[in-house]
Amino acid sequence: MSNKIFIDACFGKKTPYTPIWMMRQAGRYLSEYMAVREKAGNFLNLCHAPDMAAEVTLQPIDILGVDAAILFSDILVVPNEMGMELEFIKGFGPKFPQPLKTDEDLDALDMSASNKLTYVYETIKIVRKELADDKALIGFTGSPWTLATYMIEGQGTKTYAVVKKLIYSNPDYMHKLLDKLTVVITEYLEKQIEAGVDAVQIFDSWASALERDAFFEFSWDYMVKIAENIKAKYPHIPVIMFPKGISGFLDGIYGNFDVFGVDWATPIELAKEKLGDKYVLQGNLEPTRLYSRDAIDKGVDHIINTMKNERHIFNLGHGMLPDLDRNNAKYLVDKVHSDSSKF
Ligand code: CP3
Repeated sequence: MSNKIFIDACFGKKTPYTPIWMMRQAGRYLSEYMAVREKAGNFLNLCHAPDMAAEVTLQPIDILGVDAAILFSDILVVPNEMGMELEFIKGFGPKFPQPLKTDEDLDALDMSASNKLTYVYETIKIVRKELADDKALIGFTGSPWTLATYMIEGQGTKTYAVVKKLIYSNPDYMHKLLDKLTVVITEYLEKQIEAGVDAVQIFDSWASALERDAFFEFSWDYMVKIAENIKAKYPHIPVIMFPKGISGFLDGIYGNFDVFGVDWATPIELAKEKLGDKYVLQGNLEPTRLYSRDAIDKGVDHIINTMKNERHIFNLGHGMLPDLDRNNAKYLVDKVHSDSSKF
């Protein structure tokens, strides 16, 4: 057993209660976060300033009492350090003004990007020093597919038209890009682990854009490669996979990793039936339930009574929204701790 309940749960060990953390737990719903972001000037500056990034990483631990901190950064710092200019535009979101188009654009990508992400490793070192020993620190990356989608579309998209035209008309281009990202991401996670994270999560937020065969070919196979690289070198570090919106493909999920992140649209009992023996499950309260105590109660009852504090980490089924009342988030954390301890 480790001294971290979150880590024990990742490896399927029996814990006194179900640990909980929340995707996007550091963010705009906290006035303390807004104050630090203001001081930094903007979001990207905040990611680049280890002292301030560490401060916002720790805020939800103190305020909500969650069992794990997630490194404060963004998945898009990786393509940014591979040489792509990145802007975060208020009210719009992230943007790469010059998305990838040509073979030259691919060749120009900087494969030494993981060496330039030193501000992330600095943040990790500060957090790990200040974080209580019984709390885990989670590092993360975007999946190759999700990062590639941003790099090709240049911004968020509803139709994924540009990137999907590419995978059907020029799959070799896409595979070349995904291979490059797989190398860079593996090195990036290794360096996060060397700096002190206790677990890593791979976010595949845009998995839902793909039909079944394309999901495995262009996303999951690459995620598994990264997970297996990490597990071969660091078997004691849990790897969490979060492919969002693929409830129809659960029977195809394979690979050496520890925890499967269940999104809110996947019934937890379905995930348990298909994957619960093989992987620990993380999830999956619908994030919008956080706006009503009654909705929290019903959602938590269903999840806790299905998982029964076995092979389960509680989380939302996607990120927290910016206008949330923190008291409801605290209510959720306390309820999960207390209700799950009865099993
Ligand atoms: O979870 C956490 O608390 C840790 C930090 C974290 C952020 N982004 C901070 C952030 C993590 C793990 C991410 C991952 C991320 N970033 C993903 C994958 C997870 C997911 O939500 O699916 C994606 C797709 C991104 C890309 C991204 N970054 C988008 C689309 C946006 C805009 C979102 C919006 O609502 O405006 C961001 C910006 C961002 N990343 C914010 C935060 C707290 C908001 C920035 C601000 O303060 O204005």
